[in-house]
Amino acid sequence: ARITLRQLLDHAAERGYGVPAFNINNMEQGLAIMEAAASCDAPVIIQASRGARSYANDIMLAKMIDALEEMYPQIPLCLHLDHGNEEATCATAIRYGFTSVMMDGSLKADAKTAADYDYNVDITRRVVDMAHWVGASVEGELGVLGSLEHGGGEQEDGHGVEGTISHDQLLTDPDQAVEFVRATKVDALAIAMGTSHGAYKFTRKPDGEILAMRVVEEIHTRLPNTHLVMHGSSSVPQPLQDMFNQFGGEMPQTWGVPVEEIVRGIKHGVRKVNIDTDCRLAMAAAFRKVAVQSKSEFDPRKFLKPAMDALRELCRDRFEQFGTAGNA
Ligand code: G3H
Ligand code: 13P
Ligand code: ZN
Repeated sequence: ARITLRQLLDHAAERGYGVPAFNINNMEQGLAIMEAAASCDAPVIIQASRGARSYANDIMLAKMIDALEEMYPQIPLCLHLDHGNEEATCATAIRYGFTSVMMDGSLKADAKTAADYDYNVDITRRVVDMAHWVGASVEGELGVLGSLEHGGGEQEDGHGVEGTISHDQLLTDPDQAVEFVRATKVDALAIAMGTSHGAYKFTRKPDGEILAMRVVEEIHTRLPNTHLVMHGSSSVPQPLQDMFNQFGGEMPQTWGVPVEEIVRGIKHGVRKVNIDTDCRLAMAAAFRKVAVQSKSEFDPRKFLKPAMDALRELCRDRFEQFGTAGNA
């Protein structure tokens, strides 16, 4: 059954669990995510980016979610727009059956100025007004996703590049978070604690310097009733990197967000955990294995089936680790 982000995260907060939000672009990902959820009785957040919407087409995406819902009627399912960039993008998503949208007013901010903050409050508030009229939820974002390791916009030698953002400016400011939630009435708030999108988050296993989980704890203390969202939460597991490289891939050694750090976040108000890179890597490593081991193979299903199996295992691991399992 389709539910809103608010309904799902309220339940998660009550019971103290977190919910992974997996990105979807195609049928195989949809099937794998739902098979995983059904196998461990977990509610799901499936999210589609603007890229996914143009890749798969809104009509195809919408009907695919309808089909998944019909196949798994017992699983609570939230369909969420990932990184909406303007009001129209959010409005059209809701029209296609999304029960939740992210209005990412931090996208436009290349530096954290007062004008950027005002813009973010303003547009997020307008999207909240619109979405709440029709019963959809809204996630806002405050702060800038980016590497603390490289000093944000700074170069690796520590010398700042002109016009870029300093270390502290990347992290969400707790006072500003309180004000932002009050002013916008968002249902969930994405905050920045040093993660970034993609595979190359950290060049070493992150410590508290480069992955600032203390920010999560501080914001949760100030906003105990606000559902927090972590973006860039792929762990980029070593076994997947190894498998990808074993079968001809060329991925330089990298570190993601350790699962135990996410679990720590879940103890401090994190309810939605965005994961896309791990899903991509699991599927791509499986494709590579087939390509290398079965050189005469040309039936796409022979590539896609192992990829779905790998994605299903990854999703199941996260449902178990975040405590989502058993809460459908
Ligand atoms: O935030 C980014 C997500 O991983 C989605 O990526 O925009 O390439 O679909 P995408
Ligand atoms: P990853 O790149 O770490 O998977 O993050 C995905 C994300 O934040 C989508 O919004
Ligand atoms: Zn994101």
